[in-house]
This record gives sequence, C-alpha cells and structure tokens, in this order.
Amino acid sequence: MLMRNPSLYLFGLGVTLLALVAQPHAISATFVVDPTSGSALSVIPRAEPVPDDSLRSRPNLVMYWGQNSWGGQHLDDPDNWEKDIDYYCQDDTVDVIIASFLINYNLGGIPGTNFANHCNETFPNTQLHHCASITDGIRYCQKRGKKILLSLGGAEGRYGFPDDKSAVEFARVIHNLYLGGKSDLRPFDDVVLDGIDLDLEHGGPTGVTAFVTELRRLSVVSNSPRRLIISAAPQCEYPDANLGRPLEEADIDMVLVQFYNNWCGLMNFDNIWAWNYPVWHKLIGRMVNKNAKIYIGAPSAPAAGRGFVNLTRLTQIYRNISSTYDSVGGMMLWDVSNGWNNYDDIATIDGPVGTFQGGKPLNFAQATGRWLHSLIKSPTHVSVSVAPSADSDTTVTGPPTNTATESSEDAHIAAGGEIKRSAFRVGRNPQLRAARPRSDVAH
Ligand SMILES: *[C@@H]1O[C@H](CO)[C@@H](O)[C@H](O)[C@H]1NC(C)=O
Ligand SMILES: *[C@@H]1O[C@H](CO)[C@@H](O)[C@H](O)[C@H]1NC(C)=O
Ligand SMILES: *[C@@H]1O[C@H](CO)[C@@H](O)[C@H](O)[C@H]1NC(C)=O
Repeated sequence: MLMRNPSLYLFGLGVTLLALVAQPHAISATFVVDPTSGSALSVIPRAEPVPDDSLRSRPNLVMYWGQNSWGGQHLDDPDNWEKDIDYYCQDDTVDVIIASFLINYNLGGIPGTNFANHCNETFPNTQLHHCASITDGIRYCQKRGKKILLSLGGAEGRYGFPDDKSAVEFARVIHNLYLGGKSDLRPFDDVVLDGIDLDLEHGGPTGVTAFVTELRRLSVVSNSPRRLIISAAPQCEYPDANLGRPLEEADIDMVLVQFYNNWCGLMNFDNIWAWNYPVWHKLIGRMVNKNAKIYIGAPSAPAAGRGFVNLTRLTQIYRNISSTYDSVGGMMLWDVSNGWNNYDDIATIDGPVGTFQGGKPLNFAQATGRWLHSLIKSPTHVSVSVAPSADSDTTVTGPPTNTATESSEDAHIAAGGEIKRSAFRVGRNPQLRAARPRSDVAH
C-alpha cells in the first residue's frame, strides 16, 4: 500500500519516498470524474508556438524534486528534509525542476502521484495529489522563469502502454490534468506545466512515441501558452531498454542521461571501455529534434547514487565533454534534497562558485548551478540575448527571496530556460530497498 507504511521506497531515479502522505480521505459519496472530458480539441489548430530558446542561452541545471531522498535516509532530521518546490526557485541555482513522480498510470482509471513529504491531500477516491503548497510553488517558480516538468515513471509503480491507442488516450488525460486541457481534477489547478519527463524504468517502448506525438498535437490545438518540453531520462547504457526507440522516433527536447548506477557512470569517465558519451552524442543526429541536448546526469551526494563524483571532478568532466561535443546542454542532478544537504568538497573548485554567499556556504546543488552558469561566456555556449518575458521576476510575489544568492543571471532565467534532467537509482543506505536490479557489469 503506497504511503501507509513509513518505510522507504526507492524510485528509478534513486528516489526514496517518505511515507508521510496520508491516505486519501474516506469519501462515501460517489465521485465520478472523467479526466479526459476536457474539450480543448474544438479549438482551431494554429501554428506551433515559436520554440522557446531561452533555455539555450546558457548551460542549464536540471534537478529532480519531490521524492525527498535525503530525508529517506535521515528520518530523524525533518528540518533538513526536502522543502516546498518554491524554496528552490528563490535563487539562480536551477533552470528546470522536475516534479516526481506520476505513478500507476494508464491502468484504466485516474493516475496517481507520489510527492513524498510534500502533499497529503488527494482528490476523493484517487491517489492524485492536490495541494496548494505545490500549486502555488510551481506558479512562483514559473514566474521566476524556471521550467517545471512532471516526471512519469520511476522504478516503482505500474505503468506502460499495451498499444499506441491507449498511449494516445493517456496523452489526452495528461493534457487535461496538467497541461493546456481542462478537467475537474486538475492537480495544479490552472497552472499549466512546462512539460513532461519520461523516466520509464519499465513498461517497454510500446506507445511512448505515440504518447509524445499526441501530447505535442494537443499542445498546438489547445493554443497552449507554453511551448511543451519533453525530456527523457535513460540509463547511460545504450540503448535504453524502455526509451531506446522512442528517443529516435519521438520529438524529445532533452535527454537526461543517468550517468550513475551503471558501469558507464561518471566514476568510469577515464575508462574508454566504460564511458560512452560519444554514443549519446551520435544519437542527436538520429533524433527527430536535431536541437535536442544531452544532459550529464549525476548524483548530488555520495548517498544519492553509485557514481557520485565530487564537484572538482564533475566540473572537470563537464568541461572536457562540453569542449569536445556541442550536444551537451547542461547537467541533471538526482536529487535536490541530497544536493541541498551536501556541503562537502564545494570550496575546492575554481572560479567564483566556491565562495561563501552572505556568510553561508553554497551547497553542492548551488555550487553546481553557479559553476554551470558561469560558463555562459564560454565559446561552446554562445549567449543569446533574449528580451525578458512578461512574467519576469520583477512581477513576482512569493516567498522572500534570498538576496545573498540572487544575481543578475536571473534575468536570463526569466527570459526562459533550457532543459535537462536525469534520475537516480540506488542509495547507499542498506535500509533502502534496492530498485530493480541493473546489469551494472553488462560490458
Ligand atoms: C495535511 O497536512 C497539513 C499540514 O501539515 C495538515 O494541517 C492537515 O491536517 C493534513 N491533512 C490530512 C488529511 O492529513
Ligand atoms: C575529488 O575527486 C578526485 C577524483 O576522484 C580526487 O582525486 C580528489 O582528491 C577529490 N577532491 C577532494 C577535495 O576530495
Ligand atoms: C578529455 O578527457 C580524455 C580522457 O581523460 C582525454 O583523453 C582528453 O584529452 C580530454 N579532452 C579535453 C579536450 O580535455
């Protein structure tokens, strides 16, 4: 029973779930809702919105939020558990946050979500979470120019498409629940998410391309105010069992490769028999979206996943890859809770990122973001000047901002952002239930 047992769950991205979510209210009244009932399709199609290139103006940091994996290993320290989503949007660290996870979907009913410690309210008779703290937080993040995606999948839960037809139907559900469609069951109310992330750890590739294609079609015909971003988070072993074909056939923007928990992880960067970035680089040429980018997915703390490398090493590796390949778009960290609690080894990297801000040291996630964004002037990442969007942060009302970590770079974020992400698989804590076994030594 999901959430009832206060034990830990481990998701595909190395996610631990804290079982702090209360059971849905016991409601005796019948509450029948058809999440597919939105009628956005009656709108006359128009041209696809101009692609949002703002994310491409600099290397991006993508982080997963929603599973409190650090908290899962520190049950006795709730003060440092993962915070509400808007907490991480106050400074310039992150460009894209991926809320995880939508689980148990396409089973014929309404899908479920799991946001660990973040939300305890669900729509009656569903496991679909509906909390103002998340909705308001996403609204705040978007006003600050951050892109917010919802991740489908993870190592747990049941999901998958038996055929294209069911995938197309499910795309309509997602469109109506979270994107530009309509439904009585909108978990984030009128908030339109920026996109969908595919962290498919099982279920196979069937229907995935049809799902993405239909999502994009619906985005256009509904005149969605936001250009739909689709990301996918394969394991670094190529090709990925579930995302292999869809990566070539579906219109995907960001490939958040999980360079951890596998032989091909960051720890083996120097081993030419293990490290396979060139294979991922070549994938771009076969993708539908030739402007897609590869993101280097890394653990944000030693306990977040096998393959953790310290920031000195991570920045070395990133510099090496990005000076060789133009396919790299930034980094993805699994996950934000671990990154925010990791204060080790961040003062050793060069440049301004290792310095203290307002008397507070930067954590691993902040230091990574600072460092990545400092590359904006690098020749491999040509800066594109973009006029700030209407919802730039000057209009933001929200949590007090941490001015010590605020910077003019927010203007770049406000102008839009680029996207990438990845996930994690296995924690070190022996308490953690291992995710599906991986063939770490397949090579
Ligand atoms: C959910 O959490 C809030 C805040 O912690 C609390 O006030 C509320 O009673 C909880 N609701 C349920 C149904 O547990
Ligand atoms: C960071 O990792 C590298 C390579 O694994 C190691 O040589 C170096 O000593 C580490 N730096 C620190 C400060 O721990
Ligand atoms: C990147 O690292 C590899 C492996 O250590 C090395 O052979 C190569 O020269 C490096 N390339 C650059 C541009 O630093």
